Amino acid sequence: MRTDVATPVRLEDYRPTPYAISTVDLDIRLAPKATKVTARIAFSRREDTAVGQSLELAGDELKLVSLSLDGSALAADDFEASADKLTIHTPPADPFVLEIVTEIDPDANSKLMGLYRSSGTYCTQCEAEGFRRITYFLDRPDVLAVYTTRIEARKSDAPILLANGNPTEAGDIEGTDRHFAVWHDPFPKPSYLFAMVAGDLACVTDSYTTLLSGREVELRIYVEHGNEGRCDYAMDALKRSMRWDEEAFGREYDLDIFMIVAVSDFNMGAMENKGLNVFNDKYVLAKPETATDQDYAGIEGVIAHEYFHNWTGDRITCRDWFQLCLKEGLTVFRDQEFSSDMRSRAVKRIADVRLLQAHQFPEDGGPLAHPVRPTAYRQINNFYTATVYEKGAEIVRMLKTYLGDEGFRAGMDLYFERHDGEAATIEDFLKSFADATDTDLDQFALWYSQAGTPTIKASENWDEAAKTLTIELEQSCAPTPGQETKQPFTMPVRFGLIGPNGNEMEWSAVSGAEVREDVIVLTEASHKVVFEGLSARPVSSLLRGFSAPVRLDDGKSREDLVFLARHDNDPFNRWQAVQTLAMQLLKRGAQAPTTLASDEIQELAALLGEVSADENFEPALRAQLLQLPSEADIAREIGTDVDPDAIKAARKAVEVAIAGHCLEGFAELYEALADEAPYSPEAAAAGRRALRLVVLDYMASIEGEASARTFAHYNAADNMSDRLAALRLLVHRADTHAQEALEDFETRFGKDALVMDKWLTVQATAPFPETLARIRTLTAHPTFSYSNPNRIRALIGAFATGNQTQFNRADGAGFEFVADTVLSLDKRNPQVAARLLSAFRSWRVLEPGRRALAEAALRRVAQSSDLSSDVQDIAARSLQ
Ligand code: TRP
Ligand code: ZN
Repeated sequence: MRTDVATPVRLEDYRPTPYAISTVDLDIRLAPKATKVTARIAFSRREDTAVGQSLELAGDELKLVSLSLDGSALAADDFEASADKLTIHTPPADPFVLEIVTEIDPDANSKLMGLYRSSGTYCTQCEAEGFRRITYFLDRPDVLAVYTTRIEARKSDAPILLANGNPTEAGDIEGTDRHFAVWHDPFPKPSYLFAMVAGDLACVTDSYTTLLSGREVELRIYVEHGNEGRCDYAMDALKRSMRWDEEAFGREYDLDIFMIVAVSDFNMGAMENKGLNVFNDKYVLAKPETATDQDYAGIEGVIAHEYFHNWTGDRITCRDWFQLCLKEGLTVFRDQEFSSDMRSRAVKRIADVRLLQAHQFPEDGGPLAHPVRPTAYRQINNFYTATVYEKGAEIVRMLKTYLGDEGFRAGMDLYFERHDGEAATIEDFLKSFADATDTDLDQFALWYSQAGTPTIKASENWDEAAKTLTIELEQSCAPTPGQETKQPFTMPVRFGLIGPNGNEMEWSAVSGAEVREDVIVLTEASHKVVFEGLSARPVSSLLRGFSAPVRLDDGKSREDLVFLARHDNDPFNRWQAVQTLAMQLLKRGAQAPTTLASDEIQELAALLGEVSADENFEPALRAQLLQLPSEADIAREIGTDVDPDAIKAARKAVEVAIAGHCLEGFAELYEALADEAPYSPEAAAAGRRALRLVVLDYMASIEGEASARTFAHYNAADNMSDRLAALRLLVHRADTHAQEALEDFETRFGKDALVMDKWLTVQATAPFPETLARIRTLTAHPTFSYSNPNRIRALIGAFATGNQTQFNRADGAGFEFVADTVLSLDKRNPQVAARLLSAFRSWRVLEPGRRALAEAALRRVAQSSDLSSDVQDIAARSLQ
């Protein structure tokens, strides 16, 4: 077992730095293996810092070349330098400039943090703690400084030289083959927002004129040569984002130029560096033949997310990394709202809730559970989680539901006004809303400090004589690591009462809890809410739009659920009712298959048949209504002694029964939805494709029904959504055409690594025992590489998180393979290795045999020597 485990950083230990930094001048001389970085950093002692107090700067794998203070070299006993720290023992009392020269090796940087090369392009990734891999620094978000960056490189290696801010100077260096550029960013920023890019890139340009003050902003997207034709959608999404932030939040862009660079080796989705966003190319490049509708939606969302960070992240940043949700939760909320306005709000809400339930709920229910604002961490990279991002966004959404649209906007305006140019905290954020609306948010703040998914248990009583409905609502929250008991949360429960004819019902009086229009505000562990003056027994529709990130257990009868599925005018709860009906069947089918009565399945099938043909719903919504809960969803709901093979069998049986019942209608729909118009990534066309593909999926589940139609669908496809969905069906059903289609796909797209990622994923998620051997073979395929995070996620990540039966194989071989991969990858890229390991987070819900095998694999990882702090941290917490 590793013994040198880092001591945790604690929120309660926060102290400002003893010295502040006003300006940073960087001079970066690029060379693939020996880049020289000269940093001139202007420090000043803070008022309450004792004269002579030492200055400690963070480093990470750095090599110090030289050091001087106010122009004179420092004596050997005036400082101490190691690869990860530089200490100046007695700095001057008055402001001083430290000049630090370091030498770094971008080619050897396989962690993709700091300065590295991706397909020959120099780029940086500094969040969270990558800047210290470039120079020694106060590398924390509360140290804000103005940066000027000079980059020098050989013209032939790097004709393009970029950094944050506005360009101020550029030119050739006489008598050499080198050139330089200088960039100045006038906005003070923390080091994690620094960025620099240099390489031979193509540029697509456009411009945007702001609505609020008519300022013209130059827009540029840089990509590898040959990809210029795949940037149109990203550019359009950027312009729509810029306009939307002005309209919805009153936020205007602030520099003269906004740049996006797409790189192929990137640890995460994208990064919001001031004025110079760096993207995983997967979230920039798209054309109909290569990108699915989901890819288009992802590009739109991520472009918006990074752009919106300019205000929520860059202009107002975080005081420390515990406040990560201050920028991430808020910015996810903003990008979700943007996509809702661009597309269908109902469809977007269902998609976001599915994502939350699929990723955040299991995190919150397992050993890796943590509060949205954690209070301690050993490795901050491991806290870029679904909880911080997705649950963080839900808290902001609840705030809006609770305070109303106007109150929310007033709070946001006050937040921007008060904290622009600052490094803020969650307390600052909440106080802006409390002050703007005169509301006490102390109890609401518990959402940031208490982990775990709360449950609301609801029960109803209808008094026919008095014509009153009593709804009892009880909230509770299970223990999570380090938090045995929880206090009640403030929960906004949006609701409606539906009368026998399907219309919303009015009541004359309500008591027992605060009710604001259509929202019941829960504050206590238990409330009895009484509605009086109702004309008949209503069916309640609770938690409309998923107004709080909780589990709702309302014990509704099948009859009431079917009623809600037909009549609820909240589309989310309509979807929820169908899901609940299906889930009840699927759970029982997995746990006690013999108790599953065919008339129950027929009832669900009839409902789905009805829904599929209901022209009142947009096709995208019908597609979501028709989709059965996934195997992982079912496992999560079962929660203990999970047997993935039984779940798969039950799901398959229900799917086949539904397909059989609805075959005629589905076949008609499939024909009717064939699109004659040329491909468009617009939401409406995407929705029709999605619905057509869902019915194709059902039809293909019936043996014999599948083959010809699915293979024809594959061959006829004029876009990647259709082609990929058909390929997946052929491969996952072991169709006779599967191999032929895989070969065809490889022939068409073999040179396009981003597209080949889809090909890898389709094979890695096939639910067969041969899959593991196939994956081993694919690791030797020319498209695959252990140095590229997208490839690893596409093949091995997809296996670990998207292949329930094979990752969780009864012989443990799936666990062992992923553990082996984590251990070898950890040497190269700890951040990606740690994320892969977190696929084990739900190991305790498995049945005893698989549970023991998963635990053994996790222990083997935890006990290995020379682990990164990233992998060590995930392994240790997963076993706690
Ligand atoms: N701030 C980025 C975002 O959410 C996330 C990010 C990008 C990141 N690259 C990273 C986080 C590397 C940690 C490490 O928009
Ligand atoms: Zn973000």
